[in-house]
Amino acid sequence: MRKKIVAGNWKMNKTFTEAEELITEIADSLDEMELVNTTVVLCPPAPYLELATDIAQDAAFKVGAQNVYSCDSGAFTGEISPMMLKALEVDYCIVGHSERRKYFNETNLFLAGKVDALLKQEIIPIFCCGEILSERESGLYFGVVRKQLEESAFHLSSGEFKKLVIAYEPVWAIGTGVNASPEQAQEMHAFIRGLICEKYGEPLAKDISILYGGSCNAQNARELFSQPDVDGGLIGGASLKSAEFIQIVLSF
Ligand code: PGA
Repeated sequence: MRKKIVAGNWKMNKTFTEAEELITEIADSLDEMELVNTTVVLCPPAPYLELATDIAQDAAFKVGAQNVYSCDSGAFTGEISPMMLKALEVDYCIVGHSERRKYFNETNLFLAGKVDALLKQEIIPIFCCGEILSERESGLYFGVVRKQLEESAFHLSSGEFKKLVIAYEPVWAIGTGVNASPEQAQEMHAFIRGLICEKYGEPLAKDISILYGGSCNAQNARELFSQPDVDGGLIGGASLKSAEFIQIVLSF
């Protein structure tokens, strides 16, 4: 049975003290819950990863990074390597978020290198894909997502690919307050699972967790997560408050 996952993408938010408070609150709440087959992942900014992995040692959540570079070491000023994340006991890493594609010009090919480098260190990539508004409106969205997957992930062997988590994040829904409807999310998730099935076969496709992201919150999570191919969420804004984030975790 594939895993249900709720991952919080904090983006570039919180002071150190606020981060400590939020992580502790979430850890305390999770402590009182009995989650079955649900994994909670917190992705704070890089300077707080060690704090998060320290707290995670005695708590029911995993830690993810928001970004990584594709080499293990070298003259890449400002970058963080998968090896460094591994040393911090980070388990997941977001790859291909639309903000990285847009503001930092990350291409499908460049992202393929990050996926490879993470897998080499046994860190699970949360691979993000999704179309922009004009691509949705002109009906090009299936093709866009297909290309993103083909160029960044379909070079992997089935043994490698099965370790991935996919996040469908329509760019027009991110931070806008306009989420994809449950039907739109289901349609795309089923399409993605179909592509994976064509490429890697049904057992693997059935086992891959596909998360939805984009204005997912405590109000709409239950309906989104009840779709057969939606296995959880990658949550931005609504992951910054413990009560709301926990409510989302409870939405399966
Ligand atoms: P949002 O962001 O929930 O604030 O829309 C989601 C994301 O960017 O991962």
